[in-house]
Amino acid sequence: MINFKELAAIYKTPLYIYDLDYMTQQYEELKEAFKGRKSLMAYAIKSNSNLSIIKHFASLGSGADCVSIGEVRRAFLAGIPSYKIIFSGVGKSDDEIREAIQKDILYINVESEAELGRVELIAKELKVACRISIRVNPNIDPLTHPYISTGLHDNKFGVEIDTAKRMYIRANNSEHLDPVGIHFHIGSQLTELKPIYESAEIVADMVRSLKNIKIELKFFDIGGGLGIKYKDEVTIKPYDYAQAILGTLKGLDLTVICEPGRFLTANAGYFLTKVLYEKQNGAKRFVVVDGGMNDLLRPSLYNAYHAIEAITKSTTAKSKADVVGPVCESGDFFAKDCLLPSLEHNDLLVIHSAGAYGFGMGSNYNTRGRSAEVALKGGEARLIRKREEFEDLIALEKEFLVD
Ligand code: LLP
Repeated sequence: MINFKELAAIYKTPLYIYDLDYMTQQYEELKEAFKGRKSLMAYAIKSNSNLSIIKHFASLGSGADCVSIGEVRRAFLAGIPSYKIIFSGVGKSDDEIREAIQKDILYINVESEAELGRVELIAKELKVACRISIRVNPNIDPLTHPYISTGLHDNKFGVEIDTAKRMYIRANNSEHLDPVGIHFHIGSQLTELKPIYESAEIVADMVRSLKNIKIELKFFDIGGGLGIKYKDEVTIKPYDYAQAILGTLKGLDLTVICEPGRFLTANAGYFLTKVLYEKQNGAKRFVVVDGGMNDLLRPSLYNAYHAIEAITKSTTAKSKADVVGPVCESGDFFAKDCLLPSLEHNDLLVIHSAGAYGFGMGSNYNTRGRSAEVALKGGEARLIRKREEFEDLIALEKEFLVD
């Protein structure tokens, strides 16, 4: 049981709290599901990029899936070895590509023919052969929220099968490209196995057809996307997930690379916020808290559900309320029509499932400093990021103040 009251007293609110032991458990379960095959878990840093969190996964043997050179640098700082680091993303700049090549990471996931050209050119300048993988867009509907769906031709991600084939042939004939892997990632918060299985089949067939023309790949990168339980979702079991994928790889000697994010971090995280006021506008009840959409954007952006638990002495009957923050936007809410007892100034609300895409999607909107972050390990709490102060927010502007 996490003592939220004590944590709020020590670290103040709003506050992110992460249970590292839970993350370990999730990691081990997923890794275990792929046993019997060579596999690498490459933690998707974007889901929670705090250095201590990455370091924790590094200590478990994890690699890293990165989508910017900033994330690549974080992975290195946290101690992830270069040969376990992958760099993906539709819009890598020349500088990012150059640095990734110089850092000799496992491979760059290429997402367009134009990008392949840039990678080749930069590798040539550096007089090396760059290991690459190509992200295939299998045109499969992942059956998730449209904002986090990535595997349809309507989405900007990856390339069609035919394009991918052309790119592999080009890469294979190039002195400066070394095609080692194939990648797909059809979306996030996936709760249906069928689209994953169908995509894996398409991509595995592609590996076979490349093999027939003597292009031998080593890595089968299945992306991330495993959904978690926010409310009442029926989720995919890691074992079934692994079985479905492995079933498509019969006769192929490939290392499976998985890029889990949310599955490892979401339900390990809590966002703790304090009640400032209750107010009533006509029939509508609002609970105003000290955290805002700048801290946790998911409800505002995706209308995402996050369970809310009240820590209060109040024993009044529960009634519906919107839980809202101090930001000057009507979209600044954590829940609509949430059943809560009447609350007092300084009561605490725990917002659940906040460990993934929480802090990282935060901002300084309304000149609000981002929350502190705390990690729990074996019952011990440790500050892993200081609360941002006003001085931090203006530091990059102050010396340029116009007259
Ligand atoms: N690999 C690739 C190539 C990805 O694009 C992503 C997520 C992952 C792995 C990790 O996916 P996960 O295992 O976490 O589902 N902000 C949204 C989620 C965006 C996901 C972007 N890509 C949210 O809050 O739901």
